[in-house]
Amino acid sequence: PTIYAIMPTHTRHVQKAELTRLAQTFLHVKNFHWILVEDSHSRTDLVTSFLASCGIKYTHLNIKTPEDYQLKETDPNWLKPRGVEQRNVGLQWLREHLDEDSDKGVVYFADDDNTYSLQLFDEMRQTRGVSVWPVGLVGGMRFERPVVEHGRVVRWYTYWRPERPFAIDMAGFAVNLQLILENPQAKFELRVRRGYLESSLLEHLITMDELEPLADNCTKVLVWHTRTEKPKMKQENQLIQLGRPSDPRIEV
Ligand code: UGA
Ligand code: MN
Repeated sequence: PTIYAIMPTHTRHVQKAELTRLAQTFLHVKNFHWILVEDSHSRTDLVTSFLASCGIKYTHLNIKTPEDYQLKETDPNWLKPRGVEQRNVGLQWLREHLDEDSDKGVVYFADDDNTYSLQLFDEMRQTRGVSVWPVGLVGGMRFERPVVEHGRVVRWYTYWRPERPFAIDMAGFAVNLQLILENPQAKFELRVRRGYLESSLLEHLITMDELEPLADNCTKVLVWHTRTEKPKMKQENQLIQLGRPSDPRIEV
């Protein structure tokens, strides 16, 4: 099966660095199809030319998050869910371009700032319905994970709201393409309470007892919810003030 990685991405100083880092991981993954969805009114030149030369099979889409749901510069990042419309556009693309009978695949939702082990992709390729595994450095903990008893997921190891239907980070599950195509109404809900985004999709697809635990019964961390520090631009801004901005032809 092909791994379809749907990944929202947005313009910021570190974007090209993040994409470079990820591309150099994904290049090692066989049968991989990268579906990048920019949070923008149109596809940017930076991402367009990056993708053209990255050497990975890709689809480049875009959709701007509606104004009311956009995070402001000063908002804490948990205030609103991120990447929702972008992932939904990715799902829509799969439904419009792939065939239930002939296309075999596994769908994964990537963040553009996480860290992925190559082993994770070997694991998720086995996904028949929905598979799950631990995520490192998330939820204010070393890791969160599904707790497995007798081969079944029975609850969630997480500090925050373990009673959520699927108390799991976006990076901690994959879905068989078939299930996505069979359930055309399944998508992420923009208007959800904090921490319920993953549940908003998964509730359409599966129940807890049907989940397939991977990564040695959910005991191995193969993906990390890393977050990249925002670079300070103090000197850059001072030069702008002085009328000596940096050369815009140099792409960073
Ligand atoms: C955590 C999860 O890892 C996300 O998958 C989930 O969407 C998010 O919580 C949530 O609850 O909404 P976190 O690391 O805090 O995410 O968020 P980001 O990495 O900042 O954003 C997730 C994705 O959305 C990234 O790929 C990012 O590039 C994209 N994004 C972010 C946008 O497309 N637009 C934005 O304005 C911000
Ligand atoms: Mn992130």
